[in-house]
Amino acid sequence: MTDTRDQDRVLIFDTTLRDGEQSPGATMSHNEKLEIAAMLDEMGVDIIEAGFPIASEGDFAAVRDISKNAVNSTICGLSRANFRDIDRCWEAVKYARSPRIHTFIGTSPLHRQIPNLNMDEMADRIHDTVTYARNLCDNVQWSPMDATRTEEDYLCRVVEIAIKAGATTINIPDTVGYTIPRESSELIAMLLNRVPGADEIIFATHCHNDLGMATANSLAAVEAGARQIECTINGLGERAGNTALEEVVMALKVRNDRLPYRSNIDTTKIMNLSRRVATVSGFAVQFNKAIVGKNAFAHESGIHQDGMLKNAETFEIMRPEDVGLSETNIVMGKHSGRAALRSKLENLGFSLGDNELKDVFVRFKELADRKKEVYDDDLVALMGDTSGAPENVRIQLKSLRVVCGTEGPQEAALTLKVDGAERSVTATGDGPVDATFRAIKEIFPTTATLQLYQVGAVTEGTDAQATVSVRLEEDGRIATGTSADTDTVVASARAYVTALNRLLLRREKSAPDSDLKTVDYKDVS
Ligand code: KIV
Ligand code: ZN
Repeated sequence: MTDTRDQDRVLIFDTTLRDGEQSPGATMSHNEKLEIAAMLDEMGVDIIEAGFPIASEGDFAAVRDISKNAVNSTICGLSRANFRDIDRCWEAVKYARSPRIHTFIGTSPLHRQIPNLNMDEMADRIHDTVTYARNLCDNVQWSPMDATRTEEDYLCRVVEIAIKAGATTINIPDTVGYTIPRESSELIAMLLNRVPGADEIIFATHCHNDLGMATANSLAAVEAGARQIECTINGLGERAGNTALEEVVMALKVRNDRLPYRSNIDTTKIMNLSRRVATVSGFAVQFNKAIVGKNAFAHESGIHQDGMLKNAETFEIMRPEDVGLSETNIVMGKHSGRAALRSKLENLGFSLGDNELKDVFVRFKELADRKKEVYDDDLVALMGDTSGAPENVRIQLKSLRVVCGTEGPQEAALTLKVDGAERSVTATGDGPVDATFRAIKEIFPTTATLQLYQVGAVTEGTDAQATVSVRLEEDGRIATGTSADTDTVVASARAYVTALNRLLLRREKSAPDSDLKTVDYKDVS
């Protein structure tokens, strides 16, 4: 267990698999969640919030299996303020070496209206549910959702109730990303000052990034006495996302002169985790994202390059190696063997079983035949192509031939394998991609609408692979597919098919009460 009395130590609570996965379209498969959790555990994350067990069978199974596998991290599950949620959460986390129940209720005036409880009734609910959770588990976290817009007196009152009922961590969420740094520190200082028993528990800070201040707000809270930061890899999360783990951890490391606090994170694992989360969530990292963006360590201008050559510290406040960026980008090609590919992929954070490697090797050879030099980014894109993943193969692309050019109409002749049977159609459209998507819809009609179609080039040159992301929406369910190929239209077709497969998966597993914003708080019996 973590030594909670160590005053300089800041606990890192990662919620990529819960708050991050709540981000529309960021659905991850069971195996992907297990893999990310194992990487977080190995990286030194203190607490992993693995999911919201009551939300669906899939969430429950993920939290249960992550609990069984965890080596060092505490495993936490989320639950609303009712006994049924808390029971389900405990059922999932109880297998962990170190389990935690996290229960929450919205305490601000706006959020109090949802369950229609008055202040006293809500205070009773908090007492009853935290007591109930604590009788099941000796590690209980309680969150007053929308704390930063809750009246101070009421916040103090309910925090005191939760502490007396046995909560060991009190999390202060800035649910809508409304607060500014000074307020964030003042709020924690005020609670530490006014609430009896506050010095006996850990205060956590949980910030959303709607105004771009999540990292600053989290660090300000730490300066005032918070000792747990809640965050996600790449800042994944609803709307503008959550505090980015890599940003707070690197800020604590680089600016330890002014922020004299320690985390337990092995920062050299940051890059691989960032790539993996981007891949499985389908949310690409923006090029200029702090710490993990493609350009975060790139120096383009002549003056910068000159300075860097003379002394790297001229323009660099941290070394690329500190975040796990290897300087060498050894080029692979069609003569590279399976062992070289395995070792290269391991360096990039992908550890593959023999069968998986066999499949990736075939795809690597195909790519190397078309593209003379295969760079690290090409391999990351290859691994990001989820179109061949075994969990997503109800629909498969078998072949595609397009007619395009200045003389329309553009045409796509497409064959898909759907539930084992092959079907072919030819469709026309406004460009080859439109024609291809129409052909897919003709073979597999759905009411899904296209929300996002995004194309990027992985490396430079006309033989560069294109990465394509497609996001589909159907009845409020969102799914993203990504694919990479030197042929943009093929990558587009594969990404569309992957998104469709994921949507079908979501159709099967989605639960009616999985949305935090439409919860029924009355169910407390
Ligand atoms: O942002 C928020 O308030 C949350 C709570 C469930 C802790 O994610
Ligand atoms: Zn949140």
